[in-house]
Amino acid sequence: TKSTAGYSPDIESRTPPYPKLLKRLHEVRRVLGSTRQLTLAEKILYSHLDNPEEALLTNTDNGSNIRGNANLKLKPDRVAMQDASAQMALLQFMTCNLPSTAVPASIHCDHMIVGERGADVDLPESIKGNKEVFDFLESAAKKYGIEFWPPGAGIIHQTVLENYAAPGLMMLGTDSHTPNAGGLGAIAIGVGGADAVDALVDAPWELKAPKILGVRLEGQLNGWASPKDVILALAGKLTVRGGTGYIIEYYGPGVDSLSCTGMATICNMGAEVGATTSLFPFSTRHIPYLESTHRSSIALQAQTIASSPSLVNMLRADEDAQYDESITINLSILEPHVNGPFTPDLSTPLSVFAKAVKTNNWPETVSAGLIGSCTNSSYQDMARAEDLVKQANAAGLKPATDFFITPGSEQIRATLERDSTLETFEDAGGIVLANACGPCIGQWKRTDNVVKGDHNAIFTSYNRNFRGRNDGNPETMNFLASPEIVTAMSYAGSTTFNPLTDSLTTPSGATFRFSPPTGAELPASGFEIGNPEFLPTSAAPSPETEVVVSPTSDRLALLEPFAPFPESDLKGLKVLYKVTGKCTTDTISAAGPWLKYKGHLPNISANTLIGAVNAATGEVNIAYDFDGSTSGIPELAQKWKDQGLEWLVVAEDNYGEGSAREHAALQPRYLGGRVILAKSFARIHETNLKKQGVVPLTFANGEDYGKIDACDEVDTVGLYDTLKNGGEGEIRVKVKKAKTGEEVMIKTRHTLSEDQCGFILAGSALNLLAKMNHP
Ligand code: F3S
Repeated sequence: TKSTAGYSPDIESRTPPYPKLLKRLHEVRRVLGSTRQLTLAEKILYSHLDNPEEALLTNTDNGSNIRGNANLKLKPDRVAMQDASAQMALLQFMTCNLPSTAVPASIHCDHMIVGERGADVDLPESIKGNKEVFDFLESAAKKYGIEFWPPGAGIIHQTVLENYAAPGLMMLGTDSHTPNAGGLGAIAIGVGGADAVDALVDAPWELKAPKILGVRLEGQLNGWASPKDVILALAGKLTVRGGTGYIIEYYGPGVDSLSCTGMATICNMGAEVGATTSLFPFSTRHIPYLESTHRSSIALQAQTIASSPSLVNMLRADEDAQYDESITINLSILEPHVNGPFTPDLSTPLSVFAKAVKTNNWPETVSAGLIGSCTNSSYQDMARAEDLVKQANAAGLKPATDFFITPGSEQIRATLERDSTLETFEDAGGIVLANACGPCIGQWKRTDNVVKGDHNAIFTSYNRNFRGRNDGNPETMNFLASPEIVTAMSYAGSTTFNPLTDSLTTPSGATFRFSPPTGAELPASGFEIGNPEFLPTSAAPSPETEVVVSPTSDRLALLEPFAPFPESDLKGLKVLYKVTGKCTTDTISAAGPWLKYKGHLPNISANTLIGAVNAATGEVNIAYDFDGSTSGIPELAQKWKDQGLEWLVVAEDNYGEGSAREHAALQPRYLGGRVILAKSFARIHETNLKKQGVVPLTFANGEDYGKIDACDEVDTVGLYDTLKNGGEGEIRVKVKKAKTGEEVMIKTRHTLSEDQCGFILAGSALNLLAKMNHP
């Protein structure tokens, strides 16, 4: 039921299970000894362990060496999914035949909405264009008791912060900026759909215990510096890989000087340095935010826990907790930063940015300014930007360039409308886009005169700035900055402008200089709910709902369970392709236009490995059949599938690096791939393969890569026994050379755990779960 009269969400399902978590923390203390000092991230993570004793003591020198070593099996409290990635997650969930999700979950329709002419036109058009996907998501959400936030309701991370994030919560989200919720003290991790399904079906979700990077904040922000500048500066120090394998934990006296939404901005962009997630400890600044977003009872419980003695305090780090690495940032002397172009870690302090523009020959004209998005659309962000717009307006100035505003949620939009902030933006010529990702995810149809191939510079308050990300033009340089700096730059229209020191000339010829922006942290009259149509559906499952998937759809297809493993070794596999060089998840399952088919496994499989380089010929996506005829890789795979032939791929190092994209494992499996034999694997992809029933093997001796070629025939030796023995055993592959008929035996290694052997034997992890649910 939807009602605007005093919005009363289901608080119970939104409250972290504190009593259970505290009990688990107690158990963790018992296992590790009560004197062991823990970081905040460890406290929250370990309180979500399925079996603390097993996880914390196995392979960790009796618990002394957990971080970076232990394999944690975790039970998250909640799952959030965005519309693009929710499709495959739900299709997979449906194969488990469960009546409802095991943990509370939500779906947010935000990624498939275009930003072009403003919300009123863009939203209805996007809904029309994606109707069957939205209908599918909504019907599945209703059936299984998932809260469904329709198109227009807001961007996943903003909606999660306003409704679900809470101190001590652990959640998984099918989007890389899920860590945004860490601003409210949650451990929130971005994952692929198959991982989300683990949580949805109450199977433990595995994570190698991250190391912890402590960032100590001192002093307090002032003037033009904003929370965004904390992470822009940190990204410069850490680079895009510096956070890999780490959780970034903020602490120190500077924390309480930041607003809750500012902390969320900082955590959001931890994804840009590759961190597993980022989080803040419980802060007094969390209380008014929780209260103003209808969650006073959570604020109260969190306050009680946070003020309890260290041993039972899961919302703050222990006094002497040790970090694996640490960095100190003095907020008092932090200046605004501008990051980019093309990479979020190219960080330049504003005071030297004009010089960098000249040195690097970057465009001197700003072609558009865009504020908002999931990263920076808080009330405070918008209020501070509004302050600048009002200052400029009073001086008779208009933005020198197109100026777009993306509210992060309907709640924010409606509140800004009530408080006349949007009117201020629109009167100045700003265009308010739909409450959705829009230009941040490439859904930006530019209406100015910049065409593909034109070098141009835009300023955004977003989080990512890879080539082509916003408007599809690889020559558009996206400079990331705070909303305040983006607003000021939009008025100047010049990339060499520094609002702290430079002036603009008003139409009357006077000199105008911005004063440092100010703005309220939270709306004095509380948040508005806005359009009741944008409130979520109920979290109670309604089993009678029919899930809508048209059999003729080219965007959605129900999944057929994969066949179980034969009761023997694999015989007569053929080498489909031998890859040389990098083989990332993008190589295996390309994005771009293919994203449209994320919910249709047969259709998206037509992109399988199309970026892979043929080791024999150096050609990309040219595969050779036994008779020497050539075709694309997916075409040959499909042909072999139709002929009943199963196959393997041979590859080099770090196979499957990149994202957690599960399609990169699902597609080969769907087309008949049984084994990937590589020099090494990217860890997440290796796990994904096993979940889909594909066996990842590595060469025991890397040079053996030279002994196997496309079209060779392969039998596994010892694989079936190893699977039956829960991972104990040696696996070799017997290769019969296609050209000579000669036979070669190659030794391999594997990392199959007992659980994973179960997945493979059942055909996939989901098959196993379905079997457990309906033996
Ligand atoms: Fe992601 Fe941007 Fe949307 S970072 S969630 S695409 S607003």
